Amino acid sequence: KTIYLKDYQVPEFLIDHTDLHFTLADDMTTVRSRLSMRRNPESKTQDASLVLHGQDMQLQAVTLDGTLLSASAYKVDEESLTVASVPDSFVLECETLIKPQDNTSLEGLYRSASMYCTQCEAEGFRKITYYLDRPDVMSLFTTTIVADKAAYPVLLSNGNNVDSGENSDGSHWVKWEDPFKKPAYLFALVAGDLEFIEDSFTTCSGNDVTLRIFVEAKDLDKCDHAMQSLKRSMKWDEETFGREYDLNIFNIVAVDDFNMGAMENKSLNIFNTSCVLAKPETTTDAAFQRVEAIVAHEYFHNWSGNRVTCRDWFQLSLKEGFTVYRDAEFSSDMGSRTVKRVEDVNFLRTVQFAEDAGPMAHPIRPESFMEISNFYTVTVYEKGAEIVRMIAHLLGKDLFRKGSDLYFERHDGQAVTCEDFVKAMEDASGKDLSQFRRWYSQAGTPQLAVSGRYDEVTSTYSLTVKQSCKTVQETPKAFHIPLAMALLGEAGALRLQLQGAEPNPDSADNTELVLDVTESEQQFVFENIPERPVPSLLRGFSAPVQLHFDYSRDELMFLMSHDSDGFCRWDACQQLGVLALKDMIAAYQAGQDMQLEPRLLSAYQHLLSDESLDKSMVALMLSLPSEAYMAGIMPKADVQAIHIARMTAKVEIADQLQALFLQAYKANTLSQPYQANEQQIAARSLKNTALHYLMLSETEEALALCLAQYQQAQNMTDSMAALSALVNSSFEQQKQQALADFYQRWQSEALVVNQWLSVQAGCYLAGTLDKVKALMAHPAFDIKNPNKVRSVVGAFTANAVNFHHQDGSGYEFLADQIITLNALNPQIAARLLGPLTKWQQYKDESAALMRKALQRIMAQEQLSKDVYEVVSKSLNS
Ligand code: ARG
Ligand code: ZN
Repeated sequence: KTIYLKDYQVPEFLIDHTDLHFTLADDMTTVRSRLSMRRNPESKTQDASLVLHGQDMQLQAVTLDGTLLSASAYKVDEESLTVASVPDSFVLECETLIKPQDNTSLEGLYRSASMYCTQCEAEGFRKITYYLDRPDVMSLFTTTIVADKAAYPVLLSNGNNVDSGENSDGSHWVKWEDPFKKPAYLFALVAGDLEFIEDSFTTCSGNDVTLRIFVEAKDLDKCDHAMQSLKRSMKWDEETFGREYDLNIFNIVAVDDFNMGAMENKSLNIFNTSCVLAKPETTTDAAFQRVEAIVAHEYFHNWSGNRVTCRDWFQLSLKEGFTVYRDAEFSSDMGSRTVKRVEDVNFLRTVQFAEDAGPMAHPIRPESFMEISNFYTVTVYEKGAEIVRMIAHLLGKDLFRKGSDLYFERHDGQAVTCEDFVKAMEDASGKDLSQFRRWYSQAGTPQLAVSGRYDEVTSTYSLTVKQSCKTVQETPKAFHIPLAMALLGEAGALRLQLQGAEPNPDSADNTELVLDVTESEQQFVFENIPERPVPSLLRGFSAPVQLHFDYSRDELMFLMSHDSDGFCRWDACQQLGVLALKDMIAAYQAGQDMQLEPRLLSAYQHLLSDESLDKSMVALMLSLPSEAYMAGIMPKADVQAIHIARMTAKVEIADQLQALFLQAYKANTLSQPYQANEQQIAARSLKNTALHYLMLSETEEALALCLAQYQQAQNMTDSMAALSALVNSSFEQQKQQALADFYQRWQSEALVVNQWLSVQAGCYLAGTLDKVKALMAHPAFDIKNPNKVRSVVGAFTANAVNFHHQDGSGYEFLADQIITLNALNPQIAARLLGPLTKWQQYKDESAALMRKALQRIMAQEQLSKDVYEVVSKSLNS
């Protein structure tokens, strides 16, 4: 069944108060609810009956205004409870039984290790009790939790702890009251034997907030980084968005079994352990940065999501796109803005562009869905953030802040739409965003074909810009695309004179312009251009589009070293890499010798020799375009050819630049104690990039270096870099020894074991599928734990050359896992399916085998909504 945005209707009933009572016991959990309800004055329908959402539970009793209802007064089916007749205002009480210990979907109330926890977004609350489980029904919650005191000393829910006590049977209870109205998806409950670290934060208006992070005792030493990140986030949100925290308590709980990264439940954020725990010995630099970003993201939701929430799930990007934008700005302010931008754009272009090109393509505000869990996507999140970023650029810093202030003030306590957000931005700034709104309703990646012409006689330079967009829908209308650009001459950026263009409000001089591209074809003429320039286009990636400009290889070389925009310098290097790889892929396919583009080699040589460059940027530029990126831009991708060409290029680079890599390795080996700061992370990233190349040459010297690094490493970044290089090398004996040693050393640290699993599942050498199957039988693996599944099955499907093995064994393996997971955890099953659904991107032989695997899944009985939606859409596309 498909649900449509156009069918939205306001709720027929409202719930003013929600009073919940949980009794947690080993065999059964009893949930009693007391809902103070009334008819919604805004609802036009006047049906006497009340329909509540609810599934997977056993209803014991229903009471209406204190009277126990007889079985004929209500009806229960798989997904709802219907009470035949209710008055205009009433109290409804339900008693239900649920079994969290058997809940493997990890939605609703479930068990993780020895604790109870919840995940209610998007529609998990209906697995806890009968309710109006939709975000526009906002209610005041009180929650009482009763549980055995010895096993569950910590009992948490949203808001303030207002009462507690003990019973004579060894149980105890705590009552929580949340003073803010909220939709049910923000409800949370935790019960367990947990320990915590505590800190505090004083808000800008002087409120003291107690901050706690709850974990299992063994993880108490890994909470510090998250706590510091939380405090930085609270401060930053006050300074940057004027957002102050609104309670005296803020709790974070880490759980091992979690479908996503984390969840912003009011004052009780619940995190996947992988997104909150960190210490140098067990956690890589990338993971340290992820923890900081996700802690910030969930905290920022307190305003962009909780205080102002979504009217319905089609509006998901309202809170997610905005909050991703906010956390990206935070990370940029905490570290290097350019590095953060390059990483984010690289991810968007590789993963989101592929989603746009696949069968699940959707606008950031989808128009329909079967299962909302399938729409927690890179499009809604990351492309959604790009749309907010464009608004910020179009308005400029001050007006954007004015717009966000107006949005929060106007809609505080409400459940609103993306339209309300855009309207607030328009009202505060006076800018017209009417055409811009198309970004919310049209799917697909706009293609921007740009060409330039210099006229020496008139000293003019004209840029012709054509936009188009291939989507599943009919031809979309033209987007409003802000195209940031500059014209580079021999001595630097030229002054720009263009009639009708607005200067970039964030740029101090007039060498950068943001062109408003609004038509399918447009020309921009620049006057008084004294020399033939090289255009620098889409600076800072000013819009989520695919840019096509026919740069010569020498022009790319020029941009790489002369463009003042860091993103464009990186991109020029990528584009040269793309051209180099395309040559080699074509040569391989034609059975000819593969020659590496000499300019790329000299560019890399230059990067490695110039000590003044930012080390993180050098490391990023030394990374060739990924196989996934190449597959995305080549029609009917030939994965084997891409892999072989790219490896050949890398080995050639490694052999030619060995001395420089060795020098970079040594120059960036740190002696100070580990810190996850910008400078150290940059140095490690360059050093480990160098190690990676050195190991590709497979010299004894490189092996010695790698083994020494593995043995002496004081931090996980260096250990993993060395282990990964060994695993992908042909030094068989050293590899086996290191893997055994690593497991021996870290077997009691789940998150480290996950890295050990994924480095093996991601190995690009032949025979990996057999190793993956063996890993799934290893005691460290557990198919019910999403992190383990992602580490093994997810890492394997991202390992293109093995997943796309021409005999189809990778596809069949994935289909088997999907079929198993469909019954256990539909959300994870559907998410894991992603790589199989993009069959249209691959050469015919691969596509046919991928479809065959999809058909086998389709033929299963009892497919979950989640898996059915993804498989059926991809087979019908
Ligand atoms: N709101 C959470 C976040 O982005 C994600 C929750 C996802 N839940 C789900 N069932 N898909 O911070
Ligand atoms: Zn979020």
